[in-house]
Amino acid sequence: MIRLGVNIDHVATIRNARGGTHPDPLRAALSAIEAGADGITLHLREDRRHIRDDDVTRICAALTAPINLEMAATDDMVAVALRHAPHAACIVPERRAEVTTEGGLDAAGQAALLGPKIAALNEAGIRVSLFIDPDPAQIRAAASLGAPVIELHTGAYAEGRPGELQRLQDGAVLGRSLGLEIHAGHGLTYENVAAIAAIREVAELNIGHFLIGQAILDGLPGVVTHMRALIRAAR
Ligand code: PXP
Repeated sequence: MIRLGVNIDHVATIRNARGGTHPDPLRAALSAIEAGADGITLHLREDRRHIRDDDVTRICAALTAPINLEMAATDDMVAVALRHAPHAACIVPERRAEVTTEGGLDAAGQAALLGPKIAALNEAGIRVSLFIDPDPAQIRAAASLGAPVIELHTGAYAEGRPGELQRLQDGAVLGRSLGLEIHAGHGLTYENVAAIAAIREVAELNIGHFLIGQAILDGLPGVVTHMRALIRAAR
């Protein structure tokens, strides 16, 4: 069985556009789990542009399903993870100016920064994954740093870069041969998910932006019908 983690960051993006409390990412998380998601992923970015500290607190307190906290490799974020003890933490590269996570972590070049953080999370029983490109050197570095899981960045595949599916397949095989659990995510949609889900070594997919966008498109007819009925009933 391959697991689906639903990333609810962009429910918070829409909420934050008005600064209020609607739509609530916690409600979206509960709804995704009820619909069959195996876990919830949320990225507490350093600039708090979507998910906020209070969301992490409420979601960690309310959910019994596994929570995967995406985080930058900083002491502040490690402290947040240790405080909330989610099931999993996925360490991602973070640049403030980027729109979304562009490219994977440099596990090979940042061993000194990552090693102690991975150790602290491992020690607290939080399952650590490193979000990396399907590059053999990065996969080997992740294994040597003691991370039990890697999440392979599918962004270049989603953008149609030639050869990328093969790189992901080979990376998944290499990672498994090194004893790593393999996850994948970024840019996955109804149209491109099948080839990734077919990679036998992949145990989990994390999908966000497409699902939240599609939920708006699929959900709009029902909510417009409901609002029309309320308006009509008021006359
Ligand atoms: N996995 C990781 C590590 C991510 O950083 C993201 C984006 O936040 C995703 C998966 C989900 O990507 P998308 O929102 O494009 O589905």
